[in-house]
Amino acid sequence: MRIAVFGTGYLGATHAACMAELGHEVIGVDVDPAKVSRLQEGEAPFFEPGLPELLRRHTASGRLRFTHSYEVAAQSADVHFIAVGTPQRPDSAAADLSQVDAVVEALGPLLTGHAVVLGKSTVPVGTATGIADRIRALAPSPEIVVGWNPEFLREGTAVHDTLCPDRIVLGVGPGDRGRIESVTREVYAGPLADGTPLVVTDLATAELTKVAANSFLATKISFINSVAEVCDAVDADVSVLADAIGFDERIGRRFLNAGLGFGGACLPKDVRAFRARAAELGVSAAANLLADVERINSRQRTRVATMALEACRGIDNPRAAVLGLTFKPDSDDVRDSPALDVASRLAAAGVTVQAWDPHGMDNAERLHPELGYFDSPLAACKAADVVLVMTEWDEIRALTPSDLADTVSERVVIDARNCLDPAAWRTAGWTYRGIGRR
Ligand code: UDX
Repeated sequence: MRIAVFGTGYLGATHAACMAELGHEVIGVDVDPAKVSRLQEGEAPFFEPGLPELLRRHTASGRLRFTHSYEVAAQSADVHFIAVGTPQRPDSAAADLSQVDAVVEALGPLLTGHAVVLGKSTVPVGTATGIADRIRALAPSPEIVVGWNPEFLREGTAVHDTLCPDRIVLGVGPGDRGRIESVTREVYAGPLADGTPLVVTDLATAELTKVAANSFLATKISFINSVAEVCDAVDADVSVLADAIGFDERIGRRFLNAGLGFGGACLPKDVRAFRARAAELGVSAAANLLADVERINSRQRTRVATMALEACRGIDNPRAAVLGLTFKPDSDDVRDSPALDVASRLAAAGVTVQAWDPHGMDNAERLHPELGYFDSPLAACKAADVVLVMTEWDEIRALTPSDLADTVSERVVIDARNCLDPAAWRTAGWTYRGIGRR
Protein backbone atom coordinates (compact mmCIF):
# COMPACT_ATOMS: atom_id res chain seq x y z
CA MET A 1 0.00 0.00 0.00
CA ARG A 2 1.04 3.63 -0.36
CA ILE A 3 1.14 5.12 3.13
CA ALA A 4 1.87 8.60 4.54
CA VAL A 5 2.64 9.12 8.22
CA PHE A 6 2.23 12.68 9.53
CA GLY A 7 4.56 13.42 12.45
CA THR A 8 7.94 11.74 12.93
CA GLY A 9 8.30 11.70 16.70
CA TYR A 10 8.46 8.45 18.63
CA LEU A 11 5.16 7.25 17.32
CA GLY A 12 5.39 8.49 13.73
CA ALA A 13 9.02 7.58 12.99
CA THR A 14 8.54 4.08 14.40
CA HIS A 15 5.23 3.59 12.63
CA ALA A 16 6.66 4.76 9.29
CA ALA A 17 9.70 2.47 9.54
CA CYS A 18 7.58 -0.50 10.60
CA MET A 19 5.06 0.05 7.79
CA ALA A 20 7.99 -0.11 5.36
CA GLU A 21 9.16 -3.29 7.09
CA LEU A 22 5.68 -4.75 6.53
CA GLY A 23 6.21 -4.21 2.81
CA HIS A 24 4.44 -0.91 2.16
CA GLU A 25 5.68 2.15 0.30
CA VAL A 26 5.91 4.85 2.98
CA ILE A 27 6.43 8.58 3.17
CA GLY A 28 6.99 10.23 6.57
CA VAL A 29 6.04 13.90 6.89
CA ASP A 30 7.29 16.46 9.38
CA VAL A 31 7.36 20.24 9.53
CA ASP A 32 10.87 20.16 11.04
CA PRO A 33 13.34 20.11 8.08
CA ALA A 34 16.27 19.08 10.31
CA LYS A 35 14.38 16.00 11.46
CA VAL A 36 13.36 15.19 7.90
CA SER A 37 16.93 15.25 6.64
CA ARG A 38 18.26 13.16 9.53
CA LEU A 39 15.55 10.55 8.98
CA GLN A 40 16.13 10.62 5.23
CA GLU A 41 19.78 9.77 6.00
CA GLY A 42 18.48 6.75 7.89
CA GLU A 43 19.32 8.22 11.30
CA ALA A 44 16.97 7.81 14.29
CA PRO A 45 16.44 11.10 16.18
CA PHE A 46 16.13 9.23 19.51
CA PHE A 47 17.33 6.02 21.13
CA GLU A 48 15.09 3.11 20.24
CA PRO A 49 16.52 -0.42 19.91
CA GLY A 50 16.01 -1.83 16.40
CA LEU A 51 14.77 1.40 14.82
CA PRO A 52 18.07 2.62 13.24
CA GLU A 53 18.41 -0.69 11.39
CA LEU A 54 14.90 -0.39 9.90
CA LEU A 55 15.42 3.26 8.96
CA ARG A 56 18.72 2.54 7.24
CA ARG A 57 17.44 -0.51 5.40
CA HIS A 58 14.28 1.06 4.05
CA THR A 59 15.59 4.55 3.25
CA ALA A 60 18.40 2.83 1.33
CA SER A 61 15.94 0.69 -0.63
CA GLY A 62 13.75 3.73 -1.35
CA ARG A 63 10.67 2.13 0.21
CA LEU A 64 10.78 4.72 3.00
CA ARG A 65 11.10 8.45 2.28
CA PHE A 66 10.68 11.59 4.36
CA THR A 67 9.43 15.02 3.32
CA HIS A 68 8.15 18.28 4.74
CA SER A 69 5.79 18.75 1.79
CA TYR A 70 2.13 17.93 2.36
CA GLU A 71 1.54 18.14 -1.40
CA VAL A 72 4.14 15.45 -2.08
CA ALA A 73 2.73 13.30 0.72
CA ALA A 74 -0.88 13.68 -0.41
CA GLN A 75 0.07 12.61 -3.95
CA SER A 76 2.23 9.72 -2.74
CA ALA A 77 -0.26 7.89 -0.53
CA ASP A 78 -3.75 6.42 -0.29
CA VAL A 79 -3.69 5.85 3.47
CA HIS A 80 -2.78 8.78 5.71
CA PHE A 81 -1.84 8.18 9.36
CA ILE A 82 -2.01 11.12 11.77
CA ALA A 83 0.76 10.44 14.29
CA VAL A 84 1.66 13.86 15.70
CA GLY A 85 2.03 14.62 19.41
CA THR A 86 -0.77 15.65 21.76
CA PRO A 87 1.16 17.09 24.71
CA GLN A 88 -0.41 18.52 27.83
CA ARG A 89 -1.69 22.08 27.45
CA PRO A 90 0.38 24.64 29.36
CA ASP A 91 -2.71 26.07 31.07
CA SER A 92 -4.57 22.89 32.07
CA ALA A 93 -4.44 19.08 32.35
CA ALA A 94 -6.15 18.67 28.98
CA ALA A 95 -4.44 17.61 25.74
CA ASP A 96 -3.15 20.22 23.29
CA LEU A 97 -4.59 19.28 19.89
CA SER A 98 -2.92 22.03 17.88
CA GLN A 99 -0.59 19.64 16.01
CA VAL A 100 -3.47 17.32 15.06
CA ASP A 101 -5.55 20.31 13.94
CA ALA A 102 -2.64 21.62 11.86
CA VAL A 103 -2.33 18.29 10.01
CA VAL A 104 -6.07 18.19 9.32
CA GLU A 105 -6.13 21.77 8.02
CA ALA A 106 -3.11 21.27 5.77
CA LEU A 107 -3.93 17.77 4.52
CA GLY A 108 -7.72 18.04 4.17
CA PRO A 109 -7.78 20.25 1.04
CA LEU A 110 -5.21 18.01 -0.69
CA LEU A 111 -7.08 14.73 -0.30
CA THR A 112 -8.39 13.27 -3.51
CA GLY A 113 -9.84 9.97 -4.76
CA HIS A 114 -10.67 7.33 -2.17
CA ALA A 115 -8.05 8.26 0.43
CA VAL A 116 -8.42 6.89 3.96
CA VAL A 117 -7.28 8.92 6.98
CA LEU A 118 -6.41 6.92 10.12
CA GLY A 119 -5.73 8.73 13.38
CA LYS A 120 -3.09 7.23 15.67
CA SER A 121 -2.42 10.15 18.03
CA THR A 122 -3.89 9.88 21.54
CA VAL A 123 -6.85 12.28 21.64
CA PRO A 124 -9.70 13.13 24.00
CA VAL A 125 -12.89 11.21 23.23
CA GLY A 126 -14.99 13.08 20.68
CA THR A 127 -12.02 14.43 18.70
CA ALA A 128 -12.20 11.88 15.85
CA THR A 129 -15.81 12.71 14.98
CA GLY A 130 -14.88 16.40 14.78
CA ILE A 131 -11.91 15.58 12.54
CA ALA A 132 -14.07 13.42 10.24
CA ASP A 133 -16.53 16.31 9.84
CA ARG A 134 -13.74 18.82 9.23
CA ILE A 135 -12.03 16.63 6.62
CA ARG A 136 -15.35 16.09 4.82
CA ALA A 137 -15.73 19.88 4.72
CA LEU A 138 -12.17 20.51 3.48
CA ALA A 139 -11.54 17.66 1.04
CA PRO A 140 -12.39 18.15 -2.63
CA SER A 141 -13.37 14.47 -2.85
CA PRO A 142 -16.59 13.30 -1.13
CA GLU A 143 -15.14 9.78 -0.83
CA ILE A 144 -12.63 10.47 1.95
CA VAL A 145 -13.21 8.48 5.15
CA VAL A 146 -11.67 8.82 8.61
CA GLY A 147 -11.03 6.03 11.13
CA TRP A 148 -9.19 5.88 14.46
CA ASN A 149 -6.45 3.34 15.03
CA PRO A 150 -4.81 4.04 18.43
CA GLU A 151 -1.23 3.02 19.09
CA PHE A 152 -0.10 1.08 22.17
CA LEU A 153 3.67 0.96 21.60
CA ARG A 154 6.08 1.18 24.51
CA GLU A 155 9.39 3.01 24.34
CA GLY A 156 12.26 0.54 24.26
CA THR A 157 10.16 -2.12 22.51
CA ALA A 158 8.41 0.17 20.03
CA VAL A 159 9.52 -1.75 16.92
CA HIS A 160 8.38 -5.09 18.29
CA ASP A 161 5.11 -3.59 19.58
CA THR A 162 4.33 -2.16 16.14
CA LEU A 163 5.24 -5.26 14.14
CA CYS A 164 3.70 -7.74 16.60
CA PRO A 165 0.99 -5.82 18.47
CA ASP A 166 -1.21 -7.40 21.18
CA ARG A 167 -4.25 -6.11 19.33
CA ILE A 168 -5.25 -3.71 16.58
CA VAL A 169 -8.11 -1.39 17.42
CA LEU A 170 -10.05 0.39 14.71
CA GLY A 171 -12.76 2.98 15.26
CA VAL A 172 -15.09 3.84 12.36
CA GLY A 173 -17.89 6.33 11.88
CA PRO A 174 -21.46 5.25 11.10
CA GLY A 175 -21.65 3.77 7.57
CA ASP A 176 -17.84 3.96 6.98
CA ARG A 177 -16.88 0.49 8.16
CA GLY A 178 -16.53 -1.42 4.86
CA ARG A 179 -13.75 0.48 3.13
CA ILE A 180 -11.86 1.52 6.27
CA GLU A 181 -11.81 -2.03 7.60
CA SER A 182 -10.65 -3.56 4.33
CA VAL A 183 -7.85 -0.98 3.96
CA THR A 184 -6.82 -1.52 7.59
CA ARG A 185 -6.75 -5.29 7.05
CA GLU A 186 -4.45 -4.76 4.08
CA VAL A 187 -2.15 -2.40 6.01
CA TYR A 188 -1.81 -4.88 8.89
CA ALA A 189 -2.03 -8.05 6.77
CA GLY A 190 1.24 -9.36 8.30
CA PRO A 191 0.31 -9.12 12.01
CA LEU A 192 -3.28 -10.21 11.28
CA ALA A 193 -2.00 -13.34 9.52
CA ASP A 194 0.07 -14.06 12.65
CA GLY A 195 -3.14 -14.07 14.72
CA THR A 196 -3.25 -10.51 16.11
CA PRO A 197 -6.88 -9.76 17.05
CA LEU A 198 -8.61 -6.85 15.31
CA VAL A 199 -11.27 -5.02 17.32
CA VAL A 200 -13.54 -2.91 15.12
CA THR A 201 -15.71 -0.44 16.98
CA ASP A 202 -17.06 3.11 16.87
CA LEU A 203 -14.78 6.17 16.95
CA ALA A 204 -15.45 7.07 20.60
CA THR A 205 -14.72 3.56 21.90
CA ALA A 206 -11.48 3.42 19.90
CA GLU A 207 -10.33 6.78 21.29
CA LEU A 208 -11.20 5.71 24.83
CA THR A 209 -9.42 2.35 24.49
CA LYS A 210 -6.06 4.10 24.45
CA VAL A 211 -6.52 6.36 27.47
CA ALA A 212 -8.30 3.59 29.39
CA ALA A 213 -5.38 1.19 28.76
CA ASN A 214 -2.79 3.72 29.94
CA SER A 215 -4.91 4.76 32.92
CA PHE A 216 -5.35 1.13 33.96
CA LEU A 217 -1.59 0.56 33.86
CA ALA A 218 -1.05 3.74 35.87
CA THR A 219 -3.70 2.62 38.37
CA LYS A 220 -1.96 -0.72 38.79
CA ILE A 221 1.32 1.06 39.57
CA SER A 222 -0.27 3.50 42.03
CA PHE A 223 -2.18 0.63 43.64
CA ILE A 224 1.00 -1.32 44.36
CA ASN A 225 2.76 1.85 45.52
CA SER A 226 0.00 2.52 48.04
CA VAL A 227 0.22 -1.11 49.22
CA ALA A 228 3.99 -0.57 49.52
CA GLU A 229 3.32 2.24 51.96
CA VAL A 230 1.23 -0.14 54.09
CA CYS A 231 4.07 -2.69 53.85
CA ASP A 232 6.49 -0.04 55.14
CA ALA A 233 4.17 0.63 58.08
CA VAL A 234 4.14 -3.01 59.20
CA ASP A 235 7.55 -4.19 57.99
CA ALA A 236 6.15 -6.42 55.22
CA ASP A 237 7.63 -6.94 51.75
CA VAL A 238 5.76 -5.57 48.73
CA SER A 239 7.90 -7.46 46.18
CA VAL A 240 6.98 -10.83 47.68
CA LEU A 241 3.36 -9.66 47.97
CA ALA A 242 3.32 -8.65 44.27
CA ASP A 243 4.71 -12.07 43.30
CA ALA A 244 2.05 -13.77 45.40
CA ILE A 245 -0.94 -11.82 44.08
CA GLY A 246 0.51 -11.84 40.57
CA PHE A 247 0.11 -15.61 40.33
CA ASP A 248 -3.62 -14.95 40.16
CA GLU A 249 -4.18 -14.72 36.40
CA ARG A 250 -6.92 -12.19 36.93
CA ILE A 251 -4.35 -9.85 38.49
CA GLY A 252 -1.09 -10.72 36.70
CA ARG A 253 2.42 -9.82 37.89
CA ARG A 254 3.23 -7.17 35.27
CA PHE A 255 3.04 -3.47 36.25
CA LEU A 256 3.09 -4.38 39.92
CA ASN A 257 6.62 -3.15 40.59
CA ALA A 258 6.52 -0.69 43.46
CA GLY A 259 9.03 2.15 43.35
CA LEU A 260 9.47 5.67 42.15
CA GLY A 261 6.25 5.54 40.12
CA PHE A 262 5.41 6.14 36.50
CA GLY A 263 6.76 8.86 34.23
CA GLY A 264 7.52 9.38 30.55
CA ALA A 265 5.81 11.19 27.73
CA CYS A 266 2.63 9.09 27.74
CA LEU A 267 1.28 7.65 30.98
CA PRO A 268 1.31 10.87 33.06
CA LYS A 269 -0.14 13.10 30.36
CA ASP A 270 -2.72 10.54 29.20
CA VAL A 271 -3.96 10.04 32.76
CA ARG A 272 -4.22 13.83 33.21
CA ALA A 273 -5.99 14.31 29.89
CA PHE A 274 -8.44 11.46 30.62
CA ARG A 275 -9.13 12.94 34.05
CA ALA A 276 -9.75 16.36 32.49
CA ARG A 277 -12.07 14.91 29.84
CA ALA A 278 -14.00 12.80 32.38
CA ALA A 279 -14.48 15.90 34.55
CA GLU A 280 -15.62 17.88 31.49
CA LEU A 281 -18.17 15.14 30.77
CA GLY A 282 -19.38 15.32 34.40
CA VAL A 283 -18.14 11.79 35.24
CA SER A 284 -16.71 12.62 38.64
CA ALA A 285 -16.09 9.02 39.82
CA ALA A 286 -13.55 8.44 37.00
CA ALA A 287 -12.03 11.91 37.44
CA ASN A 288 -11.59 11.38 41.20
CA LEU A 289 -10.09 7.91 40.80
CA LEU A 290 -7.53 9.22 38.30
CA ALA A 291 -6.73 12.23 40.50
CA ASP A 292 -5.86 9.77 43.31
CA VAL A 293 -3.69 7.73 40.93
CA GLU A 294 -1.76 10.90 40.08
CA ARG A 295 -1.50 11.98 43.73
CA ILE A 296 -0.09 8.62 44.81
CA ASN A 297 2.34 8.76 41.89
CA SER A 298 3.72 12.17 42.78
CA ARG A 299 3.93 11.21 46.45
CA GLN A 300 6.40 8.45 45.50
CA ARG A 301 8.81 11.10 44.23
CA THR A 302 8.42 13.10 47.45
CA ARG A 303 8.96 9.97 49.56
CA VAL A 304 12.23 9.11 47.80
CA ALA A 305 13.49 12.71 47.95
CA THR A 306 12.65 12.80 51.68
CA MET A 307 14.47 9.49 52.29
CA ALA A 308 17.56 10.92 50.57
CA LEU A 309 17.43 14.17 52.51
CA GLU A 310 17.08 12.22 55.77
CA ALA A 311 20.20 10.25 54.83
CA CYS A 312 22.03 13.55 54.28
CA ARG A 313 20.87 15.18 57.51
CA GLY A 314 23.71 16.58 59.65
CA ILE A 315 26.31 16.20 56.85
CA ASP A 316 28.09 19.35 55.62
CA ASN A 317 27.88 19.75 51.83
CA PRO A 318 26.18 16.38 51.27
CA ARG A 319 26.62 14.47 48.00
CA ALA A 320 24.11 12.13 46.43
CA ALA A 321 24.93 9.69 43.65
CA VAL A 322 21.97 9.37 41.29
CA LEU A 323 22.15 6.19 39.18
CA GLY A 324 19.64 6.35 36.34
CA LEU A 325 17.93 9.44 34.94
CA THR A 326 15.57 8.13 32.26
CA PHE A 327 11.93 7.35 33.06
CA LYS A 328 12.63 3.67 32.45
CA PRO A 329 15.47 1.51 31.09
CA ASP A 330 16.17 1.04 27.36
CA SER A 331 15.20 4.62 26.59
CA ASP A 332 17.02 7.96 26.47
CA ASP A 333 13.78 9.74 27.36
CA VAL A 334 13.79 11.98 30.43
CA ARG A 335 10.42 13.61 29.80
CA ASP A 336 8.50 13.65 33.09
CA SER A 337 11.14 11.31 34.47
CA PRO A 338 10.67 10.59 38.19
CA ALA A 339 14.44 10.07 38.48
CA LEU A 340 15.33 13.47 37.06
CA ASP A 341 12.59 15.13 39.09
CA VAL A 342 13.95 13.74 42.37
CA ALA A 343 17.53 14.59 41.35
CA SER A 344 16.60 18.21 40.66
CA ARG A 345 14.68 18.44 43.97
CA LEU A 346 17.78 17.24 45.83
CA ALA A 347 19.92 19.80 44.03
CA ALA A 348 17.40 22.53 44.91
CA ALA A 349 17.66 21.44 48.56
CA GLY A 350 21.44 22.04 48.52
CA VAL A 351 22.68 18.48 47.87
CA THR A 352 25.47 18.05 45.32
CA VAL A 353 24.03 15.61 42.78
CA GLN A 354 26.43 13.32 40.91
CA ALA A 355 24.45 11.57 38.20
CA TRP A 356 25.06 8.79 35.71
CA ASP A 357 22.85 7.17 33.09
CA PRO A 358 23.93 5.02 30.12
CA HIS A 359 21.77 6.85 27.54
CA GLY A 360 19.87 9.73 29.14
CA MET A 361 22.61 12.18 30.18
CA ASP A 362 22.55 14.47 27.13
CA ASN A 363 18.79 14.94 27.39
CA ALA A 364 18.97 15.36 31.16
CA GLU A 365 21.76 17.94 30.96
CA ARG A 366 19.77 20.06 28.52
CA LEU A 367 16.93 20.29 31.06
CA HIS A 368 19.00 20.34 34.25
CA PRO A 369 22.48 21.73 33.69
CA GLU A 370 22.78 22.33 37.45
CA LEU A 371 23.33 18.59 38.12
CA GLY A 372 26.76 16.96 37.90
CA TYR A 373 27.11 14.32 35.15
CA PHE A 374 29.71 11.54 35.35
CA ASP A 375 30.87 8.95 32.87
CA SER A 376 30.51 5.83 35.02
CA PRO A 377 28.50 4.66 38.03
CA LEU A 378 31.71 4.49 40.02
CA ALA A 379 32.65 8.08 39.19
CA ALA A 380 29.14 9.24 40.16
CA CYS A 381 29.43 7.44 43.51
CA LYS A 382 32.75 9.05 44.47
CA ALA A 383 32.52 10.42 48.05
CA ALA A 384 28.71 10.09 47.98
CA ASP A 385 26.84 10.18 51.28
CA VAL A 386 23.90 8.33 49.74
CA VAL A 387 23.48 6.31 46.53
CA LEU A 388 20.07 6.43 44.83
CA VAL A 389 19.11 3.77 42.31
CA MET A 390 16.49 5.49 40.17
CA THR A 391 16.22 3.52 36.89
CA GLU A 392 16.62 -0.24 36.70
CA TRP A 393 19.17 -0.40 33.88
CA ASP A 394 20.96 -3.78 33.68
CA GLU A 395 24.27 -2.03 34.35
CA ILE A 396 22.86 -0.65 37.60
CA ARG A 397 21.18 -3.87 38.73
CA ALA A 398 24.49 -5.65 38.19
CA LEU A 399 26.39 -3.40 40.64
CA THR A 400 27.54 -5.26 43.75
CA PRO A 401 28.08 -3.75 47.21
CA SER A 402 31.82 -4.30 46.89
CA ASP A 403 31.94 -2.40 43.54
CA LEU A 404 31.00 0.79 45.39
CA ALA A 405 32.14 0.16 48.97
CA ASP A 406 35.51 1.96 48.75
CA THR A 407 34.22 4.78 46.55
CA VAL A 408 31.39 6.17 48.65
CA SER A 409 31.69 8.21 51.78
CA GLU A 410 28.73 6.53 53.52
CA ARG A 411 27.40 3.06 52.71
CA VAL A 412 23.77 4.05 52.29
CA VAL A 413 21.74 2.94 49.28
CA ILE A 414 18.15 3.92 48.42
CA ASP A 415 16.79 1.42 45.92
CA ALA A 416 13.93 3.44 44.46
CA ARG A 417 13.17 0.70 41.91
CA ASN A 418 13.42 -2.32 44.26
CA CYS A 419 15.88 -3.88 41.84
CA LEU A 420 18.78 -4.75 44.18
CA ASP A 421 19.06 -7.69 46.56
CA PRO A 422 18.54 -6.17 50.04
CA ALA A 423 20.18 -9.10 51.87
CA ALA A 424 23.38 -8.85 49.81
CA TRP A 425 23.75 -5.12 50.48
CA ARG A 426 22.91 -5.37 54.19
CA THR A 427 25.26 -8.31 54.71
CA ALA A 428 28.01 -6.23 53.11
CA GLY A 429 27.47 -3.53 55.74
CA TRP A 430 25.26 -1.13 53.80
CA THR A 431 22.14 0.62 55.04
CA TYR A 432 19.62 -0.48 52.41
CA ARG A 433 16.22 1.19 51.91
CA GLY A 434 13.74 0.08 49.27
CA ILE A 435 10.10 0.94 48.72
CA GLY A 436 7.80 -1.23 50.84
CA ARG A 437 10.57 -3.73 51.44
CA ARG A 438 11.52 -5.07 54.79
C1 UDX B 1 3.21 3.44 27.95
C2 UDX B 1 2.26 2.26 27.68
O1 UDX B 1 2.80 1.08 28.31
C3 UDX B 1 2.10 2.05 26.19
O2 UDX B 1 1.18 0.99 25.94
C4 UDX B 1 1.59 3.35 25.56
O3 UDX B 1 1.44 3.23 24.16
C5 UDX B 1 2.53 4.51 25.88
O4 UDX B 1 2.70 4.61 27.31
P1 UDX B 1 5.85 3.81 27.92
O5 UDX B 1 5.61 5.27 28.11
O6 UDX B 1 6.89 3.38 26.94
O7 UDX B 1 4.49 3.08 27.45
O8 UDX B 1 6.22 3.23 29.35
P2 UDX B 1 5.84 1.95 30.23
O9 UDX B 1 6.70 0.81 29.91
O10 UDX B 1 4.39 1.73 30.25
O11 UDX B 1 6.28 2.50 31.67
C6 UDX B 1 5.72 3.70 32.17
C7 UDX B 1 6.29 4.05 33.52
O12 UDX B 1 5.77 3.19 34.53
C8 UDX B 1 7.80 3.99 33.64
O13 UDX B 1 8.23 5.16 34.32
C9 UDX B 1 8.05 2.76 34.49
O14 UDX B 1 9.22 2.84 35.25
C10 UDX B 1 6.81 2.77 35.38
N1 UDX B 1 6.48 1.43 35.92
C11 UDX B 1 6.14 0.42 35.06
C12 UDX B 1 6.45 1.22 37.29
O15 UDX B 1 6.73 2.14 38.08
N2 UDX B 1 6.10 -0.01 37.76
C13 UDX B 1 5.78 -1.06 36.94
O16 UDX B 1 5.47 -2.12 37.45
C14 UDX B 1 5.80 -0.82 35.55
